[in-house]
Amino acid sequence: MKKFNVCIVGGGSTFTLGFLKSFVRMKEEFPLNKLVLFDIDKDRQEPIGKFGEILFKERFPELDFAYTTDIKEAYEGMDFVFMQMRAGGLPMRAKDEHIPLSMGLIGQETCGAGGMAYGLRSCVDMIKAIHDIRTYAPEAWILNYSNPAAIVAEALRREFPDDKKILNICDQPENVVRSCSRLLGCDWENLDPVYFGLNHYGWFTHIYDKTTGEDLLPKIKEMIKENGFLPQDAEQRDASWLDTYGMVQTIMADFPDYLPNTYDQYYLYPEYKASHLNPEFTRADEVMAGREKRVFAECAEVIKKGSLGDGFDNISDAHAEMMIKVAEAIAYNKNNRHILIIENNGAIANMQDDAMVEVVCELGANGPRPMRVGNIPQFYLGLLVNQVSVEKLIVDAYFENSYQKALEAFTLSRLVNDAKKARKVLDALIEANKGMWPELK
Ligand code: G6P
Ligand code: MN
Repeated sequence: MKKFNVCIVGGGSTFTLGFLKSFVRMKEEFPLNKLVLFDIDKDRQEPIGKFGEILFKERFPELDFAYTTDIKEAYEGMDFVFMQMRAGGLPMRAKDEHIPLSMGLIGQETCGAGGMAYGLRSCVDMIKAIHDIRTYAPEAWILNYSNPAAIVAEALRREFPDDKKILNICDQPENVVRSCSRLLGCDWENLDPVYFGLNHYGWFTHIYDKTTGEDLLPKIKEMIKENGFLPQDAEQRDASWLDTYGMVQTIMADFPDYLPNTYDQYYLYPEYKASHLNPEFTRADEVMAGREKRVFAECAEVIKKGSLGDGFDNISDAHAEMMIKVAEAIAYNKNNRHILIIENNGAIANMQDDAMVEVVCELGANGPRPMRVGNIPQFYLGLLVNQVSVEKLIVDAYFENSYQKALEAFTLSRLVNDAKKARKVLDALIEANKGMWPELK
């Protein structure tokens, strides 16, 4: 069985520990030869790298493991590059959330004004990183889940039009499916969803039982109506996540046709959400006070002891597990179904061909093969066409250094929706992102 070389870009991420543990847990299914962590922030990555050295010495000694800030060492000879960079780090995420909220607008990592701010930073950093990767690993599969994935995917589509080995993917649709399995008390892998949308903006039209073919969505709707909706993933249990999952019940009371992605709440209730998010303590603050502290404390403890001790738990990490299964599907031509971000080209029949949409695909060695969903109803089409335009305009702003295009994107966003507010928040974000955005003229 071939063993694979993998690089994780964003080695200092709070998500990396989950990946390291999952690579151990899944070493039979997806065997690694070499694993390299790469980050531009040496100090942040170092404790995670040292944790990795101890973990692999004890649980996976045959693995060739390294962590580095050198691009050649990171990329050369790689089969897969997992991209989880956060342009600007958590401190900039905090600004993306706080600045719009201070103006009464939703402050969110990937949606609305904050998402566009992060999008422009990610365009700069992702495009540079992928050129670097292609210098040293022209054949590597690039699995991108850096955010905001919708904007990043559109930018990569334009910058690398002929590169068929860049895959954009998000874990949230799968998290929703897993959460349905929790409700139903079944194995999530026995659920076969039909899904359409954009990244962080979509709906499930059916959730079939893989064995019998029965559509379980009517049952799921009833259960959500009665009992609400809770996350399955242990990583999504903070107060804000519980509130987010809870909103699924509200959305389905108003729009009962389909099961929504949790992110739809921001587009459907922009005023309600803006007035209920705490401008003094946003999700970034919650992450910095919670997951970030936990992850680095775990590293420090293991490094101090020089061994894992009780520090290695077997709790599954849904996100890491999903990404490793994606790599496995490609590596072994499995043609498994995954919800992926792809160029539309008819997958959603009544949307433009060059939109980056999110649908179920079969995934194998030759990449994703999307499953068509046909025409979507006018309401959903209207919402999505609006947001596709926002995403395209902000990417135009990046490529054309255009303030005007950015202003159009901000104005068109349902989460801003007013030209005066758009100009005000855009100007504040330009100030906050100096040196990290392209210059907008
Ligand atoms: C989900 C989304 C990601 C997002 C993450 C944020 O996994 O799919 O795109 O980055 O949530 O999680 P956090 O816990 O950092 O708020
Ligand atoms: Mn996502």
